Amino acid sequence: GAVQRHADEVGQGQFAFLAQGGHGALLFGIDDGVQGFHQLVVGGHLHGGLVGVAGKIGFGHGARPVGAGQVLDIVAGIGVKLVQVTVIQLVGDGTRRLAEVHPGETINVVLPLGNAYTMPLEASDKLLLVGGGVGTAPMLYLGEQLAKKGHKPTFLLGARSDKDLLQLEEFAKYGEVYTTTEDGSHGEKGYVTQHSILNKVRFEQIYTCGPKPMMVAVAKYAKSNQIECEVSLENTMACGIGACLCCVENTTEGHLCVCKEGPVFNINKLLWQI
Ligand code: FES
Repeated sequence: GAVQRHADEVGQGQFAFLAQGGHGALLFGIDDGVQGFHQLVVGGHLHGGLVGVAGKIGFGHGARPVGAGQVLDIVAGIGVKLVQVTVIQLVGDGTRRLAEVHPGETINVVLPLGNAYTMPLEASDKLLLVGGGVGTAPMLYLGEQLAKKGHKPTFLLGARSDKDLLQLEEFAKYGEVYTTTEDGSHGEKGYVTQHSILNKVRFEQIYTCGPKPMMVAVAKYAKSNQIECEVSLENTMACGIGACLCCVENTTEGHLCVCKEGPVFNINKLLWQI
């Protein structure tokens, strides 16, 4: 992978959690990943917990959101808490720069941002987590959290080909995993909404994150089958704190900032034509 140093932007040692009062943390590692996906692991002291939040990671004033739910984990370490931020898809300058930092370098992080998926009140084995592309990352974290609370999540992951299906063995730790690929190289051929599991199991709740056309199709399926459904939107973001309004989504409650009032929305709140 393209790992380079931006010595003018970042230094050795600690980076600051800007929104959390300047608690320090370190970048612990970075995996080169596959096919333009990278994994970052950062750590430090945090206030409270993080569940399915959007995170914003970057350099100095150029910090950019990395997207919904990509802050994946907090693990208690020796005197620190580690925050694992996984699966950054290289789509632009910001993500490319994130993939180019070295362990021990300094980056700025603002988190947690936004809301989270709703946890079911009662233990359920009828929860479907649908992920596509980089949107599978929050599904893994959500699945882990659901499993910890006694739920049995089912994963349905879609990709163009088997090379784009990431971390399948990780998903399998928390529930059944079904896949679709557009070229048929893994799982069933086609789109997630065509998978046969949808005809076999009557799910009670669907959570989804991925490309908008996929989420719209999933939302359509959920609506026509009267299944509760939450989507995590990936509208383009800049500030991450509800100030610049570049991420707004039109909803039944007016224009809402995906970065602050989202990224997770119940489909009934959205004005999608489904
Ligand atoms: Fe600026 Fe949401 S990114 S308001």
